[in-house]
Amino acid sequence: MAPVEDTAGAGIVAIGAYAPRHRMVNDEWAQHIDTSDAWIYTRTGIKARHIAAAGESTAMVAARAGNLCLEAAEFDPAAVRWVLVSTDTPEMWNPATACFVQAELGATRAVALDLTGGCSGFIAGLALAEARARLGEPVLLIGCEVLSQAMDWSDRSTAVLFGDGAGAALVMPREPGRPAFEIMNIYARTDGRDADILGKPYGGTRNPLTPELVREGHHHRIVMHGPYVFRNAVTKMAEAAQAALEDAGLRLEDVDLVVPHQANQRIIDALTDRLKIPRDKVFSNVEEYANTGSASIGIALAEAIAAGLIRAGQIVLTVAFGSGFSWAASVWRVTGVPPVRSELNRGPS
Ligand SMILES: CC(C)(COP(=O)(O)OP(=O)(O)OC[C@H]1O[C@@H](n2cnc3c(N)ncnc32)[C@H](O)[C@@H]1OP(=O)(O)O)[C@@H](O)C(=O)NCCC(=O)NCCS
Repeated sequence: MAPVEDTAGAGIVAIGAYAPRHRMVNDEWAQHIDTSDAWIYTRTGIKARHIAAAGESTAMVAARAGNLCLEAAEFDPAAVRWVLVSTDTPEMWNPATACFVQAELGATRAVALDLTGGCSGFIAGLALAEARARLGEPVLLIGCEVLSQAMDWSDRSTAVLFGDGAGAALVMPREPGRPAFEIMNIYARTDGRDADILGKPYGGTRNPLTPELVREGHHHRIVMHGPYVFRNAVTKMAEAAQAALEDAGLRLEDVDLVVPHQANQRIIDALTDRLKIPRDKVFSNVEEYANTGSASIGIALAEAIAAGLIRAGQIVLTVAFGSGFSWAASVWRVTGVPPVRSELNRGPS
């Protein structure tokens, strides 16, 4: 019997990334709250973050990255079948942020949905995107956060950690000869028993806002048990990385580049040490953008490609952890470097 060619499969064929123009360095934070550049940098590796302008909403930031991605691919927006926006800082309660993005992009044949998956939402969203792309349906997946609108600017233990931005990926069925990050495997897990440890609990149906709660500042309160989150981020990302590779029949030594979620340089370093990967194989740009939640992997990919760190024939591993708790990893074979367009307004390094 003639061998059957395995044509099923999907990959990322273009990347778009956007970060707002205003670049806020640590010293600027020290003017608002009792903190310092030294504290922030030594505890997190962060030097700057980008902050959305007044009136620059999540859908606007997401649409910018989505547009850049479609331009990079030279892809007709009307051919997109799904617009998936992974965000924890939505445009509004209802409708989904993705609806505004879909309209802005002119993705007239697309279904638009949001995913609230925490900082690992981009990879979990990729699992859904892959499933539809395998069937021949182009998916635009966008991770986007405007955390500067959601956080409490007077809470030094959380506010200094976050930034705004968006990363987008066009996910398409496998097409021989087309440069892509071919998705070999995705591993994703959630443990909702830790749902209260990290998140923004007020304003939904469990804790509806009242005038009193708003007066007390609960509408922008972010809950985070820092050290517990730190420990779990390291162990769960290590678990996801190893499981994703094992299921793909690969070992850590086979990986050419790891692109982790950018939350904190110390978390990235601890993960690197735990997995015993050489540090030069692990990409980081948390210094420039801080933690941009579900946007961080798309932004990191755009910069890793621009830096020439990703080449045809390589194996790339991406891994993330966030509220939920949720954690995920994905392994890709680089058949060729996908085109990228970005507008990241990077500051001087
Ligand atoms: C938040 C985090 C950076 C704190 O680092 P840490 O080394 O654990 O610091 P600690 O919690 O021990 O805090 C030490 C002190 O610094 C203080 N502090 C907190 N934020 C500060 C700031 N921005 N500037 C100055 N001091 C600060 C604390 O109040 C505490 O003071 P105290 O000892 O007098 O009570 C770290 O726990 C972390 O990164 N956790 C994971 C967070 C994360 O990534 N979340 C998102 C996951 S997707």
